[in-house]
Amino acid sequence: MKEKQFLMIPGPTNVPLKILHTLGSPAMGHRTPEFARVLKEATEGLQKVYQTKNDLYVLTSSGTGAMEAAVANFVNAGDKVIVMENGNFGERWVKLNTRYGADVEVISGPWGERANPQALRERIAQDVQQEIKAVYVTHNETSTGVVHDVQALREALGDHPAIFIVDAISGMAVSPLPVDEWQLDVVVSGSQKAFMIPPGLSFISVSPKAWAVNEKVTTPSFYFNLQAARKSYEKYNAPYTAATSLVVALCETLKMLEEEGLENIYQRHSYYKKLVRTAVKALGLELLTSEEAGSSAVTAIKKPGNLDVQELTKIMREKHKVIIAGGQGKFKKEIFRIGHLGYVDVNDIIVTIAALERTLKELGWEFQLGQGVAAVQKLLLEGEK
Ligand SMILES: Cc1ncc(COP(=O)(O)O)c(C=O)c1O
Repeated sequence: MKEKQFLMIPGPTNVPLKILHTLGSPAMGHRTPEFARVLKEATEGLQKVYQTKNDLYVLTSSGTGAMEAAVANFVNAGDKVIVMENGNFGERWVKLNTRYGADVEVISGPWGERANPQALRERIAQDVQQEIKAVYVTHNETSTGVVHDVQALREALGDHPAIFIVDAISGMAVSPLPVDEWQLDVVVSGSQKAFMIPPGLSFISVSPKAWAVNEKVTTPSFYFNLQAARKSYEKYNAPYTAATSLVVALCETLKMLEEEGLENIYQRHSYYKKLVRTAVKALGLELLTSEEAGSSAVTAIKKPGNLDVQELTKIMREKHKVIIAGGQGKFKKEIFRIGHLGYVDVNDIIVTIAALERTLKELGWEFQLGQGVAAVQKLLLEGEK
């Protein structure tokens, strides 16, 4: 018998059983009225999660495809753009913009900390000629387990004409990100995170301010050209073959999200954060981030002493069947990460902490067996939310 596995990485995430059944439904014509209805329903459901009236498109790609669209459609070669970079995915904005020939100015900060709104405010204040065309930020920096203060960053931009672009790939439907209220011009996310379906779809919202910028952009794009998407969406069609089965499944998970309600979703994820952080501390391990900066989607834990994190994740995966993540980029060997977003519950967290305890014992880490699980159990019994 194939042993059961626990997928506890920050995406791809677990897919609910009923959604797996939906994915097995008969294929659908992508140019039919039936599929147009499905795409409309998915788009409107996504707009509710995004809390936006802005245009929103479902692209057939992983999240990076939507990130590429968020550069190619809004930046001309030579344009000055600012990237707030505190991790691997902030670096991705830098790489993408560099590849498209933008004049990229990076406001870097320590990995594991939040981007500094004051640094952005000061830079914007210096820009009297209004040369800056766009500001790129990350909502939830998956590589370090940090949720950035997007609202404060947006406020730092003030009424400067630059457009504000957010990678919310792992943060959407985990932590608050009201797109219209916070005036976020372009926001990207992806199917395989809190949307609880497999990888393959990305989502992008576009504000009227961003469309006005797009009108003046001459950067070539084809597959990710958003004007093509806008034209097709007049009839709720996609410019190229849509990933029909994934969109059907998305409609179902959006219903689940709507039933639960956004506030409850944010609260549930924040509770998982609390459980995991409490357990980790009880094991004598050190968290990478402060409580305030800590993400509700993924918790990053510093390498325990001299233990090899790659060995740790390997034992977790191969021996205990719990798949967690190592570090990324320059933190590859420095941290390991437990994902707790999407279709996760407290039982998954208990199993993960128990497996982590056995792994740590096997690696010689000194602590009293059961302490992490006990800390979680205690919180659960207190019924604290
Ligand atoms: C914050 C963030 N940005 C971008 C990406 C890249 O998305 P994808 O791997 O779907 O292309 C990820 C994926 O983990 C992510 O977490």
